[in-house]
Amino acid sequence: MLEHDVLVIGAGLAGMRAALAAAQSGADVGIISKVYPVRSHSNAAQGGINAALVDRGDSWEEHAFDTVKGSDYLGDQDAIELMCKVAGEELISMEHMGVIFNRDDDGRLGTRSFGGQRRARTFFVADFTGQAMLHVLHEQLMKSQVASYEEWFVTRLILEDGECCGVVAMEIRTGRLYVIRAKTVVLATGGVGRAYEPSTNALIVTGDGMALAYNAGALLMDMEMVQYHPTTLKGSGVLITEGARGEGAYLLNRHGDRFMERYAPSMMELASRDVVSRSEATEIAEGNGVDGCVLLDCRHLGEQVIREKLSQIYDIGLDLVGVDITKEPIPITPGMHYIMGGIKTDVDGLTRVPGLYAAGECACVSVHGGNRLGANSLLDTIVFGHRAGNHAAAVASDKEYRDLDIRTLVAEEEARLRGVLDRPANGDRVASVRRDMGVTMDRHLGVYRNEEGMTAALADVRKLKERYASVPVEDKGSVFNTDLIFALELGFMLDCAEAIVLSGLERKDSRGAHSRTDFTERDDENWLKHVLVSHSDDGPKVSHLPVVITQWTPEERKY
Ligand code: FUM
Repeated sequence: MLEHDVLVIGAGLAGMRAALAAAQSGADVGIISKVYPVRSHSNAAQGGINAALVDRGDSWEEHAFDTVKGSDYLGDQDAIELMCKVAGEELISMEHMGVIFNRDDDGRLGTRSFGGQRRARTFFVADFTGQAMLHVLHEQLMKSQVASYEEWFVTRLILEDGECCGVVAMEIRTGRLYVIRAKTVVLATGGVGRAYEPSTNALIVTGDGMALAYNAGALLMDMEMVQYHPTTLKGSGVLITEGARGEGAYLLNRHGDRFMERYAPSMMELASRDVVSRSEATEIAEGNGVDGCVLLDCRHLGEQVIREKLSQIYDIGLDLVGVDITKEPIPITPGMHYIMGGIKTDVDGLTRVPGLYAAGECACVSVHGGNRLGANSLLDTIVFGHRAGNHAAAVASDKEYRDLDIRTLVAEEEARLRGVLDRPANGDRVASVRRDMGVTMDRHLGVYRNEEGMTAALADVRKLKERYASVPVEDKGSVFNTDLIFALELGFMLDCAEAIVLSGLERKDSRGAHSRTDFTERDDENWLKHVLVSHSDDGPKVSHLPVVITQWTPEERKY
């Protein structure tokens, strides 16, 4: 029998931090990842992690205010305060575990500027901060007693009397299904970037945890808030870190103008992401772009800074578009990068389903509201991963395992998956449904949205769900059946896509990343509230919740 006090699903930064915290609290912990853990998408986080250190003259209050303003006042201020207060200690604890953060000329931890923040408070490891943190946490996990299920895929959550008490998971190597019992389950499965095409996200970012939680009765909150990063590579959508602008790179239009002067005269290229992405989209739409893009100019930073601090994007430019960023500007566009919404949790990661927690990008605490500040996501993962792990361990210590009918649970899930494998070969291909979903989401729920486009997207997503019901799986085998996994992931993404569109249609103002051409203003009187989606047998249900305001009264947002 496989069982753990705390079972963590997902081995990115939030999952690893949760597992470590739970293990250090004395719990017996298991962690499941559908990929080898250090291949998790946190690996792709480039630019850094925010923290206000008092010895730099910074304060958690300033960090919190920048975050609240960045969120366009949709972030819950109690959660933001909490995150910013503990940011310094979490950062230092990562450094003590072994993360080799860049140093400044005095040998202290170095910082760079990031968007939407009045101070340089982003700590970094060149332009591969996520990778550095992930490897260090992985070392810590290997040192601990945490059981690691590598290349296992969770197909469903097990609920008894409304409480989450384990999962059914497939060992991908053999295709065998297992029940893993747990007293508490922490979802840390990341976002849903691949519901969009293109995206900066890895192909594994498919909304698994959000869809599992939603179908188990948890709420999805603020799903309309999808972040378009201002600098993604032409064509492929690969991330070009905000760290480049933090180091001083410019955005140029086809006339060679630094057009941000007109949109955000005080913060320029380092205004918050939603503002910069909209400015770029406007420039391109008004014919000031270059072949559907604008240009990021790093040349004046000099070869040494580029080689030392931006080495990854130097390689990306050269390898993917043949541009040497030390010699010429690189073409970029706004591209889908992150979802601020997710599974609604409290500050300890608890969802409304007893026994079920969420942390990291799959969760919505909510500290990002309508627009996340760059480098607040790594902070979110370790702060709320840590808290969720602690809380899940404490709750588990007072609980017994549930009696589960393992044979029946496995047999039912085998029958469901057999049904997917046995579909006739003449349906649509997974890849074509997936591409059509990505294209419609990018077209209608990108930088700008309106009623007409989102209504069309809803019809498209619902038709895609019908097409999905008959997609065949060509590989009928059991060993590494990635064909089957792609099909299951597509189902997760379609559920999330539907929630994104419904939430977008519901919110009738422009706020943060949700910028409507038919409701162009922020409307605090009617829309200073969260949008929630829940699953029901009659289809998704939409509801609202007030935003938590502590000390910052909403005001006009200018950069
Ligand atoms: O641009 C970046 O390096 C991305 C960072 C983030 O999304 O936090």
